[in-house]
Amino acid sequence: MSVSLIPDSWPSADGIWHDLHLAPEALGAGLPAMSDAAIVVEQGAIAWVGAYAELPDDYRQLPKHAGQGAMVTPGLIDCHTHLVYGGQRANEFAMRLAGASYEEVARAGGGIVSSVKSTRLANEDALFDAAVPRLQALLAEGVCAIEIKSGYGLSLEHERKQLRVARRLGQAFGVTVCTTFLGAHALPPEYAGRSDDYIRLVCEEMLPALAAEGLVDAVDVFCETIGFTLAQTEQVFQAAQALGLPVKLHAEQLSDMGGSALAARYGALSCDHIEHLSAEGIAAMLQAGTVAVLLPGAYFTLRDTHMPPIAALRAAGVPMAVSTDHNPGTSPALSLLLMLNMACTLFRLTVPEALAGVTRHAAQALGLQATHGQIAAGCTANFVLWPLGDVAELAYWLGQRPACSVVRQGRLAVDGMGLHRSAA
Ligand code: NIG
Ligand code: FE
Repeated sequence: MSVSLIPDSWPSADGIWHDLHLAPEALGAGLPAMSDAAIVVEQGAIAWVGAYAELPDDYRQLPKHAGQGAMVTPGLIDCHTHLVYGGQRANEFAMRLAGASYEEVARAGGGIVSSVKSTRLANEDALFDAAVPRLQALLAEGVCAIEIKSGYGLSLEHERKQLRVARRLGQAFGVTVCTTFLGAHALPPEYAGRSDDYIRLVCEEMLPALAAEGLVDAVDVFCETIGFTLAQTEQVFQAAQALGLPVKLHAEQLSDMGGSALAARYGALSCDHIEHLSAEGIAAMLQAGTVAVLLPGAYFTLRDTHMPPIAALRAAGVPMAVSTDHNPGTSPALSLLLMLNMACTLFRLTVPEALAGVTRHAAQALGLQATHGQIAAGCTANFVLWPLGDVAELAYWLGQRPACSVVRQGRLAVDGMGLHRSAA
């Protein structure tokens, strides 16, 4: 299948969007909702936002788009995914139900390495085709930017393939895709017993080559007893730093390895999972401006009971993001709205906190905060219109996605409310 959904043919969103109700947080940190609001879009960017009554005269002649009183949020951002891979791992679901832990499944040859086998067998087109419906599910509920990691190739050739597919998805669907090189995700079978040699390959060959091809926006490591050590993680961070690339970390998911404090020393954009994060880790992240990315889908799927230290993160003022962590093993989740629900229900986030977690803080976790994650002049025109009366409805429904219309990259990319039809 060659998918070209031709974003260029979608209706332009340029003009004045009026009759809008801006959700809390949409206009910035801690800012309340605003009714009778308007957004002016010019050449795909937000030129002005505010109360319609205060619309500057200069804009009054622009074409108008009636928002039908919809509630508006910034375009959603899924800041941690492993969206591109071959196969699936439903068999592990059954193994875990029978009592096996994630570590036991991994040590028995399942886990990440089993997805590596299927990913290596698939060519670029097959990986693209498999990822399309996953991406479409996320886009349909308002996702306008997404991070996609490699890490199921674990060799230069196969990591390249994954990252190239991630870039292609961004182009085909007119969505911001941030690529993260996760070569240090697991030890490939051909390096069994030689993890230091593999880390050398990651640092000296894979990362420099892929960065030179423009395929890497950030670098990540799985720092864990079943992943890589603190020392190996630091080697990868040094290699990233030498290339001027930002880092992030799969940290403290199963145990407290001190990875978050290390990542913070390298100015990490985010530390993700962090169920076992310590007070020292929180202090280091606060100082470095590192975002805490909460992944309730993995917590739920693994039937984890060790909560991330939410109250301490909140008290310290560390920004918290929320993401699907979509992957075939620990989080086969394809709804960011469901993650909102889980972040509130399982992790006790408030609805505005959860909303900031999939907008402003998710943008910060990707280094996109200047252009994404809020409705502000100068940002890319990414916003979602929801025909809902209460913002809590975004987190409330379980297994039902409210209809929405999505302005993505300055175009009406999804029109579940029939706005275009009613304007015609
Ligand atoms: O974020 N923890 C490591 N990486 C993924 C899981 C990947 C897999 O099991 O395939 C995660 O949960
Ligand atoms: Fe992950």
